[in-house]
Amino acid sequence: MDKVFINLHLVSMVDKQQTGSDGYQVLKDAMIGVRNGKVEYVGEPCPSILHGHPDIIDCAHALVTPGFIDCHTHLIFAGNRANEFEQRLQGVPYEEIAKQGGGILSTVQATRKTSEDELYHLAIHRLEGLKRDGVTTIEIKSGYGLTLDDEIKMLKVAKRISELPDMKVSSTLLAAHAVPPEYKNRSDEYIDLICDTIIPQVVKLNLANHVDVFCEGIGFSPKQCERVFRATLKHGLRIKGHTEQLSNLGGSALAASMGADSVDHIEYLDENGVKALAKNNTVATLLPGAFYYLNESKLPPIPLLRQYKVPMAIATDFNPGTSPIASLRTIMNMACTLFKLTPEESLRGVTCHAAQALGLQHFRGKIAVGMEADFAIWQLDSPAELSYRLGVPDLIARVVDGEIFHEK
Ligand code: NIG
Ligand code: FE
Repeated sequence: MDKVFINLHLVSMVDKQQTGSDGYQVLKDAMIGVRNGKVEYVGEPCPSILHGHPDIIDCAHALVTPGFIDCHTHLIFAGNRANEFEQRLQGVPYEEIAKQGGGILSTVQATRKTSEDELYHLAIHRLEGLKRDGVTTIEIKSGYGLTLDDEIKMLKVAKRISELPDMKVSSTLLAAHAVPPEYKNRSDEYIDLICDTIIPQVVKLNLANHVDVFCEGIGFSPKQCERVFRATLKHGLRIKGHTEQLSNLGGSALAASMGADSVDHIEYLDENGVKALAKNNTVATLLPGAFYYLNESKLPPIPLLRQYKVPMAIATDFNPGTSPIASLRTIMNMACTLFKLTPEESLRGVTCHAAQALGLQHFRGKIAVGMEADFAIWQLDSPAELSYRLGVPDLIARVVDGEIFHEK
């Protein structure tokens, strides 16, 4: 074994049935052994492994969770939209701002003008907030380029971020985020461009795992989204969707029926939609930051999601318009206060369920033998504190593929 972590309070997120301990399954004074970036041992301290081992890390009774996974972000963009924040505070709705050419399209303008290098530096700076909250995997979407070259530029930035030793990236093509100005009133032709040119090229360059859409009145119709999904599946990528955020168009059920790993936002999802998620094992990704910034009052159907046992992930949705919050722990807290998730559900939402939202549940999101050795080590007594306290630097270190990255 390369490294052994001892004296830790383990929150493995492995199912209750397998461990028989309490709701969070805290295993006190546990030990984790790592080899070649994977977990090789987890459980009670094992004297035969410890005896004479050259690399023992004493965690001094710290709490150890899986590395957090932020499974929905728009980390890469230029500019900011504080002016729209001010407009919205004066009562102008998000949809109205979008229709006037602001919103997503104003970030598109700024992003198109910005070089790959500059976008990279902007994104790296924002990433610091997420690292401080124990994030070891981040999903990053394109969607502020909306031309072949600009979408590829964004995905190349995501690729560069994935080369950092301490952050794993899952990249998503979101060309179907808004109708670009040059395709105004010709949105079907833009969908042709996405299906016939952008998706094949992104696949050829191996720049994304998923393709996402914005299925909404100010985005694309279910019919258009279905065309994007078909083209995606034909090229062997996986699908997900921004669905039922502002209205109920049936995008979630459509995406689920086509095998989506997740549908995201879903404030307006109805019971039939929830059933479709359950039937297709699609994760419901909740984004309380966007709910909060848009001053939304319609809650996602959380009691129904529980009733039908749909896994719930939560994520920052970090973006310049609806969720400028680069803190996953703030989002965990909001999931509890605004959506009434329990702190345990919120922890699942950023670990095992977030992994499933990215199709990575067999590799990340739990601490178990054979999984990737990605952990967050916290100076905390109990896991509920992760959702409870804001702003205190509780993180001691992150571990990515068995390598330790210290925060303090
Ligand atoms: O997840 N809903 C669409 N997309 C983003 C918002 C992007 C923006 O406003 O720039 C979201 O909320
Ligand atoms: Fe989003």
